[in-house]
Amino acid sequence: MPDPSTQFTLASSFFFFSLVFSTIMIDVTKASCDSGPVKPTTPLVTFLEQVQQTALTTLGKSHFDPKLYVDLSLKSELSSTQNAFHKLPRSANGSASVKDFNEFIKDYFEGAGHDVVLAKPEDFVPEPEGFLPNVKNPEVRAWALEVHSLWKNLSRKVAGGVHKRPEYHTLLPLPEKFIIPGSRFREVYYWDSYWVIRGLLASKMYDTAKSIVTNLIFLIEEYGYVLNGARAYYTNRSQPPLLSAMVSEIYKRTGDLEFARKALPALIKEHEFWNSGIHKVVIQDEQACNHSLSRYYAMWNQPRPESSTLDKELASKILNVSEKQQFYREVASTAETGWDFSTRWMRNHSDFTTLATTSILPVDLNAFILGMERDIAFLSKVTGDRRNSELFLKASEARHKAIKTVFWNETKGQWLDYWLSDIKCNTEHQTWEASNQNQNVFASNFIPLWIESFYSDPSMVEKVTKSLQSSGLLRAAGIATSLTNSGQQWDFPNGWAPIQHMIAEGLARSGSKEAKLVAEDIAVRWIRTNYKAYKKTGVMHEKYDVEKCGEFGGGGEYVPQTGFGWSNGLVLAFLEEFGWPQDRKIDC
Ligand SMILES: *[C@@H]1O[C@H](CO)[C@@H](O)[C@H](O)[C@H]1NC(C)=O
Ligand SMILES: *[C@@H]1O[C@H](CO)[C@@H](O)[C@H](O)[C@H]1NC(C)=O
Ligand SMILES: *[C@@H]1O[C@H](CO)[C@@H](O)[C@H](O)[C@H]1NC(C)=O
Ligand SMILES: *[C@@H]1O[C@H](CO)[C@@H](O)[C@H](O)[C@H]1NC(C)=O
Ligand SMILES: *[C@@H]1O[C@H](CO)[C@@H](O)[C@H](O)[C@H]1NC(C)=O
Ligand SMILES: *[C@@H]1O[C@H](CO)[C@@H](O)[C@H](O)[C@H]1NC(C)=O
Ligand SMILES: *[C@@H]1O[C@H](CO)[C@@H](O)[C@H](O)[C@H]1NC(C)=O
Repeated sequence: MPDPSTQFTLASSFFFFSLVFSTIMIDVTKASCDSGPVKPTTPLVTFLEQVQQTALTTLGKSHFDPKLYVDLSLKSELSSTQNAFHKLPRSANGSASVKDFNEFIKDYFEGAGHDVVLAKPEDFVPEPEGFLPNVKNPEVRAWALEVHSLWKNLSRKVAGGVHKRPEYHTLLPLPEKFIIPGSRFREVYYWDSYWVIRGLLASKMYDTAKSIVTNLIFLIEEYGYVLNGARAYYTNRSQPPLLSAMVSEIYKRTGDLEFARKALPALIKEHEFWNSGIHKVVIQDEQACNHSLSRYYAMWNQPRPESSTLDKELASKILNVSEKQQFYREVASTAETGWDFSTRWMRNHSDFTTLATTSILPVDLNAFILGMERDIAFLSKVTGDRRNSELFLKASEARHKAIKTVFWNETKGQWLDYWLSDIKCNTEHQTWEASNQNQNVFASNFIPLWIESFYSDPSMVEKVTKSLQSSGLLRAAGIATSLTNSGQQWDFPNGWAPIQHMIAEGLARSGSKEAKLVAEDIAVRWIRTNYKAYKKTGVMHEKYDVEKCGEFGGGGEYVPQTGFGWSNGLVLAFLEEFGWPQDRKIDC
């Protein structure tokens, strides 16, 4: 797949470009809080970051995608490649001649994407039996079949060479086929996979759905948690934990007990990851009860390798070494949230260096972990493990109470992120204070509604639905991510598939007629904008502009991407849930 030419469209003026090319020396003895010194991921990743830096100085900033360089794979030994790299003649600023550099890349590397190969999914058929029975409108049906056919375009496997010589690749040697999001995202991603799987289930591609889960379980077995994505440079952070939700959806469709049984140990291991060490925070309420909750916290205090040149530039105005390390940790932790980047994580909405993700208890993360506990309880029960079923049911009841106590704001009818008062390591115990709830409106303030223990409470559903309707988030073409137009990707006016889906599905499943109408309205707007943009551009997009039907979204640190895994998945999942009557217009 060709890499799109990429240029940075950082909107805000504070992202000034400084020509500081010296490598930042990280003081490893001062790594804060957790796991001791930060180790490089693999020698190859560290080396490719140097190649990335040289590429930037040599080729210049326009059309530069830093990720392209950490996706290269070696043709021969690392040491001989390093020798050739160090022998390149350089100018004072570290640049090589364009000709020398291009020759070096051609001689020593296979191109990005070379080690991920197209692989036709065996369970794909052009029109699956029983496909979207409630989609009656012929135009919508024809389009749904086109979206369904895109699974073929996005299906990949790891090339044989990666299994033979993993040290030549940053791609991890996953055992099974997978679906990629698309464009520059040429590997499997964690939370994206949930919506990919929901779409695959609508497409009746159960084997492909299961093989994605098998790959993610492989990562838990190797690393103890699911990585952000299947690359050696993503080894120090995870992403919103939805593996249990994937397993449980697949089980509900297929009744495959063996599959559920195999997944459970990995799910329990992942639960431990999110509920121990640096991820766990205890909040004491006004009655002196203790509530255990979780936060995002990347095990990393250096630039993200896939955006190393960019992160260094962003950090260049921070001179104090330990503050710089903390900033890098916040950047990586924000990538872990899946919402990279957003004013949600910034203390000062116009200063990117005030990212403070590790000082926030996020509503959505804890809703996901509540879901995880309920899923593990359910899957344990169906596989006959009563002890674990009871254990995790208890854990889910405790978290339900914690979410209500710490995040719920009765006046607003929303769950609000909670600011931790001490950003250092001593977050173990903090006392709850109302003033620490983040009063800003984000779509995440409504995510707990996705979880049954909240959507099954009628008075809560009524309150939250009203609150959503008056929040300002419901726009012409879907739910906005926030109300702040910051130029960041996860802010106004961008809308993302996961957000539309979780909120609409919660509303639809609540049993309230009123809420179901709101859900359907969201789904109809979303499907129309996806349809119109597809007809206009021929592709599905990563994100959409919810102000204008048929427009895709922008902003952030890379150019808009297409393909696109979770958008395709959601179109199919929405059409499965809500159908599309013969006489409903698809145009907007
Ligand atoms: C980063 O991840 C790698 C691979 O799992 C691990 O060896 C290393 O210890 C991690 N670094 C930190 C600081 O946890
Ligand atoms: C680095 O130096 C070279 C040669 O002196 C010059 O052509 C190039 O523009 C410089 N690069 C940057 C990013 O300043
Ligand atoms: C909560 O934790 C604190 C600190 O460990 C402890 O003093 C207190 O007794 C605990 N409260 C309850 C109700 O267990
Ligand atoms: C760097 O910042 C930390 C945390 O704010 C502070 O404790 C330390 O004294 C600073 N170091 C220097 C050299 O200014
Ligand atoms: C927020 O950041 C901007 C840009 O750096 C700065 O001008 C402003 O003073 C900051 N606001 C506060 C309250 O610190
Ligand atoms: C909830 O929100 C209201 C209005 O925004 C605010 O005044 C109040 O302090 C918040 N906290 C609680 C616990 O209600
Ligand atoms: C999907 O693949 C087919 C066959 O290679 C190609 O014709 C089509 O243009 C691709 N679609 C998209 C949206 O990339």
